[in-house]
Amino acid sequence: MSIPHAVFDKVSLHEDIAQVLVDEPSIRRRVRELGDMLNREYARQDLLLVSVLKGSIIFMADLIRAITIPHEIDFMATSSYGAGTSSSGIVRILKDLNTSIEGRNIVLVEDIIDSGHTLGYLMRLLRERQPASLRVMALLDKPDRREIEIQVDWVGFAIPNEFVVGYGLDFNELYRNLPFIGVLKPSIYGAPE
Ligand code: IMP
Ligand code: MG
Repeated sequence: MSIPHAVFDKVSLHEDIAQVLVDEPSIRRRVRELGDMLNREYARQDLLLVSVLKGSIIFMADLIRAITIPHEIDFMATSSYGAGTSSSGIVRILKDLNTSIEGRNIVLVEDIIDSGHTLGYLMRLLRERQPASLRVMALLDKPDRREIEIQVDWVGFAIPNEFVVGYGLDFNELYRNLPFIGVLKPSIYGAPE
């Protein structure tokens, strides 16, 4: 059996994508840098990474492989936009943590900070449980869309006010598997092009 050659072609650029905002090598490079920051920041310290499902799963999976210090992971799920592309400001917990976070160093791992409502709510909720520290690492940030003031400790990429998919982020639960961050063609979500 012959080994297939790796061929780069346009197959990886999905037909519903108008533009690639962050390509695969840039993501890989940045995730490694973010992992290194955690290696330095939490060296010889307790560390529990909390990923917010489902959008951050790919980021989380790559991030923890860029971390060389001992750490644990846990997951939470919140209600998202549903079928739309803008925030309702209403956040619901669909799945809570399995572990107690009291006295622990927590890093909340998010896919994207948009209005900030989801993060603001989660921060309040987790702070009540009295962790030793609580910080936030987000792959993407849309600062222009912020509706509430929140502190994000580490951001992978600041992006313009566009609806993006790929690398874990979805539209109607699709496109999470794309290896890059791309802008969806407006026709896909019903806006005129
Ligand atoms: P926020 O509460 O408005 O900050 O929204 C946060 C959540 O909305 C994220 O965790 C995503 O699941 C989703 N979201 C926000 N912007 C985008 C986007 O551009 N593409 C896909 N999902 C998004
Ligand atoms: Mg989503």
